[in-house]
Amino acid sequence: MWLHNERFQRLGGGFGERLFIGILSFIELAMMSGHKEREVVRLVRRVRRERRFLLTGFEAFHVYSFARSCNQMDGDFVEVGCYEGGSARLLCEVLGNRSLHLFDTFEGLPKSTEKDRSVYSKSEKKNKKQYACSLESVQTYLKDYKNVSYYKGIFPDSAAPVENMKFSFVHMDVDLYESTKACLEFFYPRMIPGGIMLSHDYSMLAGVKSAFFEFLENKPEKLVELSTTQCFVVKS
Ligand SMILES: C[S@@+](CC[C@H](N)C(=O)[O-])C[C@H]1O[C@@H](n2cnc3c(N)ncnc32)[C@H](O)[C@@H]1O
Repeated sequence: MWLHNERFQRLGGGFGERLFIGILSFIELAMMSGHKEREVVRLVRRVRRERRFLLTGFEAFHVYSFARSCNQMDGDFVEVGCYEGGSARLLCEVLGNRSLHLFDTFEGLPKSTEKDRSVYSKSEKKNKKQYACSLESVQTYLKDYKNVSYYKGIFPDSAAPVENMKFSFVHMDVDLYESTKACLEFFYPRMIPGGIMLSHDYSMLAGVKSAFFEFLENKPEKLVELSTTQCFVVKS
């Protein structure tokens, strides 16, 4: 789809990108309101109003629905790449008694590499970090949810506090090859059987796709691509 390519990503989280995602979400949410649970559609609409949110309506629904399908399993929830906390808010709503671990630089995207095909070179040249939002802002937004922990810094350098934990659901929304690779390498061995790793931007960003392709080459699990930009893997 024309929207799901790297040229679109170069709009860079600014007005243009948000306008496109906003229009698409408006249509998708209207389509869903006829046959999905009203509360879930309302929740996604509310998050869209409250935060700069980079998931379309269908993508946001997938995050909510996949996480909800894991909430009877043992193991915590994780998100790497939370920006303003929009998708994290969806996870909070289905968390129950388990914990949610949120990882981000809270200063925007780290440097991209060749594998990312210079998607972010424009903002890097301007020395401007893309998708920066402070830790305090996200903490304030999610202040009503109790079992949420925050880890500031470049993942996986920030991962030491959770290295002995097990996870049932991981949401990756990190845009870059190195970041996606680091998430897969760290979380895959820590997933409980049946746990799900869901990623945004698989079909849109070359670096994300390469990281999955390389990582799964010698693994028994198969990647499932969704009709949105997302993909997921179920740990066997
Ligand atoms: C597209 S935004 C996430 C959007 C968000 N999920 C939402 O709901 O709108 C990408 C985020 O990934 C973060 N990020 C990318 N690579 C990272 C890494 N290695 N460590 C920590 N944060 C990273 C960036 O700081 C940025 O906030």
